Amino acid sequence: MFLVTGATGDLGRSIVQQLCDQEIPVRAFVRLTSRYAQLEHRGAEILIGDLTEKRDIEKACQGVKYIISTQSNPNDPLGVDYRSNIDLIDIAKANNIQHFVFISVLGTDRGYEDSPIFKAKREVEKYLESSGLNYTILRPSALASSLLPLAERFKKTGIYLLIGDAKNRTSVVSTDDVARIAIDSVFIEAANQKIFPVGGPEILIREDIYQIFSRVFNREPIVINPPLFLFDGLRGSLGLINADLYQKLGTLRVLLSNEFFCTAEEIQNLEQIYQIKLESLESYIRRYLGS
Ligand SMILES: NC(=O)c1ccc[n+]([C@@H]2O[C@H](COP(=O)([O-])OP(=O)(O)OC[C@H]3O[C@@H](n4cnc5c(N)ncnc54)[C@H](OP(=O)(O)O)[C@@H]3O)[C@@H](O)[C@H]2O)c1
Repeated sequence: MFLVTGATGDLGRSIVQQLCDQEIPVRAFVRLTSRYAQLEHRGAEILIGDLTEKRDIEKACQGVKYIISTQSNPNDPLGVDYRSNIDLIDIAKANNIQHFVFISVLGTDRGYEDSPIFKAKREVEKYLESSGLNYTILRPSALASSLLPLAERFKKTGIYLLIGDAKNRTSVVSTDDVARIAIDSVFIEAANQKIFPVGGPEILIREDIYQIFSRVFNREPIVINPPLFLFDGLRGSLGLINADLYQKLGTLRVLLSNEFFCTAEEIQNLEQIYQIKLESLESYIRRYLGS
């Protein structure tokens, strides 16, 4: 039995669906407020709870062999990105779980002080590495699913908002490929006790993204490209009236101002170990939103 936490998120959902398609038993940890009927319909066992409640995690781990942890919550990085994972790891150890897969983020080891989520991910990585558990840590760059709302808006309006440097590099990766890699991590010996950067097959620059949308939807792009200092100014002003919001925008600031891409060698290594041909962003967008 797999336990998937964050099962109603983009990645968690894809993992649960792929496990159900392979008829592998899976327990999906979901919140009562979330939409989980489709997962239940596909055959997943539903466990309702909150990952900030240790007793819910204890209950979820009973009878489980493998854990894939995908949750994240920008409103509660301490409780969800950090503490719930520490609790999951402790309880996994107590229950002799065979393998723990943790979804981290590319660049988590670069010491971005402005982002509580990046810091939480790194601390969880370190805790897992020293836990004695079998583990795999995956560090994806941007998930293609997170671009779908932007693609849908582009499809309707042609508008693409690009804040900051249009030449920054990124390796957007198919969310379904990350899901498959997460599942296979528990079965592939070469993935044990390893950290993998996970990106798509090509290094894109950010302006490639609206060019791809333009091709897929056959629309001329209207690009709005404010410089980063405008974002900083706005964030600073908002911070004067709401310090909490200033903090929350820290992760976005990190994402907008840095490059997140995998090298060709890293991608080759990933494709070799997992025996996978990674999907391009264009193919992913066509599959989900193309006509
Ligand atoms: N998106 C990206 O581009 C990207 C890039 C690199 C790494 N990652 C990492 O990849 C992972 C998956 O990303 P994603 O985009 O699929 O995430 P997502 O769609 O934002 O999903 C987050 C999940 O966490 C759940 N969650 C939040 N707070 C919870 C709580 N207190 N108790 C139980 N569940 C809770 C959410 O449940 P609800 O449905 O109830 O809200 C949801 O299922 C995350 O760890 C993220 O940091 C993402």
